[in-house]
Amino acid sequence: MRKLPGLTGSVRLGALIGICSLVMWAAGCAGDVEGGPGDAPVQDVPDEGGGDSLVLLGSKHGGHAWFDFCEGQPDSAALPGDPRALVQPGVSDGKAVHFNAWWKDCHVDPELVGEQPHPETCGELRESWERGHQLMVGNGAVGAGTFFAGTEPSGFLSFPADIYNNLWVTWGLPGRPDNFDYLVAERFGVPLGTERNPYPLPGEDPNAVDGGSGQLPINMTQTRNADGSWSGNIGLTCHGCHSGEVGSPADGHALGALYGSGTGLPDIGVIARDLAIAGAPPMGIFALFGASRGTNNAQFANITAIPSPADSGAAFGQQFAGWVTSGSTASMDTPAWWNLGHRPAKFIDGVVPTDAVRVDMAFYTPLLDNRPVPTGQDAGAWVRAHDQAADHWMLSLKAPTYPMEIDEDLARQGALLFHVKDLWAGNSGNPVPRPDGGNGSCASCHGAYSPHFANDPAFLADPALEGVASYIVPMDIIQTDPERMHAFNEAVQQSSGSGFVGYEETVGSDQDCGAQNRDDLRGDRELGYLAPPLYGIWATAPYLHNGSVPDVWSLLKSDERPAIWRRVSEPAREDQVGQVVMGFDTDLERAYDPERMGWSYDALACGDGTIPLLD
Ligand code: HEC
Ligand code: HEC
Repeated sequence: MRKLPGLTGSVRLGALIGICSLVMWAAGCAGDVEGGPGDAPVQDVPDEGGGDSLVLLGSKHGGHAWFDFCEGQPDSAALPGDPRALVQPGVSDGKAVHFNAWWKDCHVDPELVGEQPHPETCGELRESWERGHQLMVGNGAVGAGTFFAGTEPSGFLSFPADIYNNLWVTWGLPGRPDNFDYLVAERFGVPLGTERNPYPLPGEDPNAVDGGSGQLPINMTQTRNADGSWSGNIGLTCHGCHSGEVGSPADGHALGALYGSGTGLPDIGVIARDLAIAGAPPMGIFALFGASRGTNNAQFANITAIPSPADSGAAFGQQFAGWVTSGSTASMDTPAWWNLGHRPAKFIDGVVPTDAVRVDMAFYTPLLDNRPVPTGQDAGAWVRAHDQAADHWMLSLKAPTYPMEIDEDLARQGALLFHVKDLWAGNSGNPVPRPDGGNGSCASCHGAYSPHFANDPAFLADPALEGVASYIVPMDIIQTDPERMHAFNEAVQQSSGSGFVGYEETVGSDQDCGAQNRDDLRGDRELGYLAPPLYGIWATAPYLHNGSVPDVWSLLKSDERPAIWRRVSEPAREDQVGQVVMGFDTDLERAYDPERMGWSYDALACGDGTIPLLD
């Protein structure tokens, strides 16, 4: 853990003002916090042995506190409380970090909701994590999930390996290229992992060669029959939309393919097109989920929230009209799973409490598996049996370490600015309305990270709230693209909040786990977007919920944002130039810009490389 040298014992904000002048910042540094909640005395922080208490740098890399706690603990060790459960009305009153989206315990009465209770010991957590790992990682594991088939070996959207082996034909190549597996991964924008993820090559019997000698990208897995033998069928996994790649394993720092990073690589439209043409026509429907490389349209799932006369009663006409006009969410840049353990509410508008985990299984729910008569009851039972295990695996993920050099003096100045600079202070001329809570700093919306501030009761009611972000920022303040917010209108809220996925059993109770932006539930809280925790932010370019901003530099300096831009692609092998489609370049040295913190891109003019009339 790094420390600011030369400051020991109890530190007050006066000392911060001293630091400001010491490093000769522009006027208005910590003076800006006077009068705000940050003006309260800063308490001692736990001394980590070096004598310095003003610890500004260091990161827990996200994940969930339970996994940090259980490291080296016996199975019998009792888990501490979930830090997110502390986020209840009143907890941030008068504090520098502001919350307005509250944790709901969707398993408070497991018998009522028919699910497992939360784990109580490290052993229970480990057991659940293990099942979640099997389900979520894929790689041909027994018990891996695939789209709409649960853990069944085949379903409507799985296809025999022969179809996969034919993909090169659909690309118009004269023969199967020697680097076929690599080219599929590049074209689809989904990395090849380091673990074995086998499929049978033409002529191979998967059960004679332990799955096969081909290597699938991480968004696909060969399924297993009930007896554990290989099925020869390939299914799709969550990782097409949720996982990406930053650098390579050779860069160290746990880099390479990154589960749950949401790093904007896949071309869902191309995956759908190629597989449909190669012989799996149902895959074509996935073209609806993505028209541009790097983003996806998954939350156009509002279309599934169609109101039914039986559920909506007299309000049906009104709800149906609202649903028809709810529109598309447009492109989305998937949020990183390593932040889930610091989010009491999830999705970009905070519409779902994070503990409402049934919705996470939407893509694996066995509605279209290979049973002769699929029944809703079975699907629900499957979801109940798997959703918390999947959640525990996602909660265990951590952001990778920044692998390049850090200017620590600059980073300490940044840590102070991030936590104490009031963006609305005095003569800042900020034209945006001031949020109605917090100290006006970045931390007021995104959470406190520096150990110094996380341990300061003027910032957080409890140090366990370190890095927790739970403020739905009204649209007139955040002013980013409102399409996604509009698409989840009251009609969609009403119909998606009352059903299995909306935890219908809890509706009306004080732990109502349905859609949280319903008029009746949110009261006078305005709609907007939930400020995300910022762990590993360097690795998750592009930025904002729609991925419209290429780097942190232009995120913070909006007049320097390119209007139309495209990430650069990985160079093709010399003999394949012009014949193959390459994915976005994820090589750190070649394509990462540490000055602007994001991937290199080309700014385009309207009409460049696009189809006239469709720009
Ligand atoms: C077609 C792309 C796609 C697929 C496939 C997909 N997701 Fe997502 N997922 C998204 C997008 C986009 C969001 C953000 C939506 C929003 O906030 O409106 C999201 C959000 C989430 C979130 C909430 C994250 C947060 O912090 O708000 C979880 C959890 C999640 N997905 C789990 C899963 C799991 C588990 C699977 C596989 C069973 C899966 N998703 C499959 C695109 C996808
Ligand atoms: C008033 C609340 C608020 C303040 C203050 C604020 N942010 Fe944000 N920030 C948000 C919200 C909300 C989003 C998500 C907006 C969206 O995706 O449309 C966001 C997005 C971001 C993102 C992109 C996250 C991603 O994964 O795409 C970064 C990085 C960020 N903010 C950094 C900062 C920094 C640094 C500061 C201080 C200079 C700051 N923010 C101040 C509310 C705030």
